[in-house]
Amino acid sequence: MADVKTSPAVEAGLTALAVSLRGVTKAYDNGVMALGPLDLAVRKGEFISLLGPSGCGKSTALRIIAELSAPSSGTVRVARHAGEAQPGHVQPGHGIGFVFQEPTLMPWTSVRENVRLPLRLAGVPKAEARARADEALASVGLADFADAYPRELSGGMKMRVSLARALVTDPDILLMDEPFAALDEITRFRLNNDLLALWRALGKTVIFVTHSVFESVYLSQRVVVMTARPGRIQADIRIETVEPRGEEFRTSAAYSDYCRKVSAALAPSYSGQSTL
Ligand SMILES: Nc1ncnc2c1ncn2[C@@H]1O[C@H](COP(=O)(O)OP(=O)(O)OP(=O)(O)O)[C@@H](O)[C@H]1O
Ligand SMILES: [Mg+2]
Repeated sequence: MADVKTSPAVEAGLTALAVSLRGVTKAYDNGVMALGPLDLAVRKGEFISLLGPSGCGKSTALRIIAELSAPSSGTVRVARHAGEAQPGHVQPGHGIGFVFQEPTLMPWTSVRENVRLPLRLAGVPKAEARARADEALASVGLADFADAYPRELSGGMKMRVSLARALVTDPDILLMDEPFAALDEITRFRLNNDLLALWRALGKTVIFVTHSVFESVYLSQRVVVMTARPGRIQADIRIETVEPRGEEFRTSAAYSDYCRKVSAALAPSYSGQSTL
């Protein structure tokens, strides 16, 4: 992951930033121009959503931030905490937790072992890793399922395990790529509320990709709307409301107004797109 290495003047501005993308583009080897130029600044502790049509480069942007993919041009800066270089405590992903759309759990081993995996890879001693895995499972409401196998869990529970696995390394930044898209609405609402509670309690920076206008407005402090491919910023809408959010917000006039505003900002990104 790129360190925050800049001139003092720029650094002063970056201290409050978790992620900064400047003029970032991505052209894949097959010639597909997937992204950008994209400029995006995310403050530490902020919860933002990325919203945009299929194929506009949302996953590509997350992968670039996580350094799973290199940008073709532009600069990527990600601020991370300092204490991660301790031997035996090096965190894979360098302070970044990634939650994918599919929970991608290892079916042959327990929930606890699935959550412990990133710590095992980082060489964290077994007893400590086990305790931290159990703590992460408790934080997502699965304390009683540490010994269960993935096949014994519902879709929502599997996604909770995936979230616990992303949290177990105590990352500064949580990248979430349509994590709740496959869940029924009630489970999704519940996970939305639990995610907000965790965000408030843990103070992480969250970048959340979704196709749902409703979900983006409910969760985020800012909704960043992207254009069709190659994805650029179409609109950046701040969602100001009373915190903490709950069912009252979801049924409020302010919520519908924001949803309308975000939908209107999104409409041009879909114009001219095939509906096939
Ligand atoms: N490894 C790859 N090689 C070539 N092209 C790719 C690769 N990964 C993605 N693409 C292309 O880049 C574009 C952006 O893909 P990306 O997965 O970032 O979109 P997305 O916004 O996440 O879409 P969705 O909402 O459907 O998940 C698409 O046209 C896709 O086909
Ligand atoms: Mg995607």
